[in-house]
Amino acid sequence: MGYDIKTTIETDKCTGCGKCVAVCPYDALQVIDGKARVTGDKSMHCGQCVAVCPENAVRVTDLVVPTLKGTYPNEAAALFESVMHRRSCRDYRRDELSATEFEDLITFGQWAPSGTNAQKWQFTVIPSRAAMERYAEAISGFFRKLNRQAENPMLRLLSKLFMKDVLGNYYARYYGQVADSLNRWDEKREDLLFHGATGAIVISMKPGAFCAHDDALMAAQNICLGAHSMGIGSCLIGFAVEAMKRDPKIAQTIGIPGDETVFAVIALGRPKFEYPHPSGRFPVSARYFNG
Ligand SMILES: Cc1cc2nc3c(=O)[nH]c(=O)nc-3n(C[C@H](O)[C@H](O)[C@H](O)COP(=O)(O)O)c2cc1C
Repeated sequence: MGYDIKTTIETDKCTGCGKCVAVCPYDALQVIDGKARVTGDKSMHCGQCVAVCPENAVRVTDLVVPTLKGTYPNEAAALFESVMHRRSCRDYRRDELSATEFEDLITFGQWAPSGTNAQKWQFTVIPSRAAMERYAEAISGFFRKLNRQAENPMLRLLSKLFMKDVLGNYYARYYGQVADSLNRWDEKREDLLFHGATGAIVISMKPGAFCAHDDALMAAQNICLGAHSMGIGSCLIGFAVEAMKRDPKIAQTIGIPGDETVFAVIALGRPKFEYPHPSGRFPVSARYFNG
């Protein structure tokens, strides 16, 4: 999984602080002899290493930093700053969020637009690290079972013949990464699913929403931006959503009734690191239809 690595480090600027190493989701960097070095061969090109480096010593060559070109009211600049500097947080301090902070995050979420103004969202708060660990344990049970199935060549063959090779594709793309994560969880309680987040908000939709998926993701983005503005780190966890879709028992474990569908899981907590720079994005060129 991942793209070829395109990270470079200006060693004369690097102080060897190790922040880039800590934030890299692909473990592609290490500090060797007091300098950060690129030692991995895969990357997500997320630019976390670029964003976190206090010395501005890291580049990911595919990334550019798009900015606004027009002149607008100050609100646009402030909002754009927030949008550009929000990062998916994967390193959290141990202190937990308060009940008020969770309530305020939900208030951000409920201001999202929704198809036909249905507002059928339900927010489930996981307020503590202890509760997060129980939730992670329920999800890890699902991935253990899936990995056992994917290991079995006979089941992979059956999946190829009758299930569009779902299991084979999973085996090729995710099996190794998931196996490694499960081992690290079992042996060292290293949390590669929620990255040690001290809390989460799970967004499910009650029956009756026309555009349930879209509504949930609009609310999720509001929460992530709201969190950033409140100094709180957030990260969408697609792996958790996938597990909950496939195994309804996980939702029951955290009190979500069977008639609701989970569309977003947002890990939350106090970020360990500041990100002084924007990370960057792949270049985009819009297509115009002029009638
Ligand atoms: C739908 C969705 C699912 C995601 N799932 C995960 C996940 O399971 N684990 C994770 O660490 N990051 C996850 N992310 C975060 C992305 O990796 C991240 O948004 C991307 O690398 C860009 O980085 P940025 O959010 O810091 O700009 C997810 C993001 C989205 C939008």
